[in-house]
Amino acid sequence: MRRDIERVLISQDRIALRVHELARQITDDHRSSPGGGAEVELTIVPVLTGAMIFCADLIRHIPIAMKIGLLAVTSYPGRSVASQGSRVIGEMTGDLRGRHVLLVDDILDSGGTVRLVKRMLKDSGAAAVRTCVLLRKDRPSAREVEVDYVGFEIPDEFVVGYGLDFNNYYRNLPDIVTLKAHVTQRTA
Ligand code: IMP
Ligand code: MG
Repeated sequence: MRRDIERVLISQDRIALRVHELARQITDDHRSSPGGGAEVELTIVPVLTGAMIFCADLIRHIPIAMKIGLLAVTSYPGRSVASQGSRVIGEMTGDLRGRHVLLVDDILDSGGTVRLVKRMLKDSGAAAVRTCVLLRKDRPSAREVEVDYVGFEIPDEFVVGYGLDFNNYYRNLPDIVTLKAHVTQRTA
């Protein structure tokens, strides 16, 4: 696995620091928001599978009562390195009516996933929907989608690690990295 890495874009140490900062910002904003406050619960909705690791780290630094709801979305099936359009393939969010929801995703690329899921969550009757993505690619379609929290701005390159995959592999790499061209270009 290690020999497939081209370069480390964001190290695990930088990720950990930034995740901590995001959690503090989310906590402060929630406590000071109208209709929020320390006593108001959150529902955290990570978009599976990519946001699993980011979300697990993030929520352990948010000391607010919360439930977790799960949504599974596919957009890069198999060996794709470009979005094939987003589709919800599993939903276990629980009752969101009147809830303060935080949608958590790994990366904003075409923006299709966040746009789709945000609309779904709002239509479920949530009182408020905020969005947090770890990475945002430097491309117009990603910048057009409104999000509340962004971990890192990155170049428009295909990345894996810390939850992000290629063909469902490399999610367990602790750093965010690019892959050597022969890995993503290999057929079969
Ligand atoms: P979007 O719908 O095009 O914004 O893409 C969002 C989803 O595509 C993310 O949740 C990822 O699962 C996947 N994705 C987008 N870019 C990458 C990448 O560079 N590496 C791995 N997965 C990606
Ligand atoms: Mg994903």
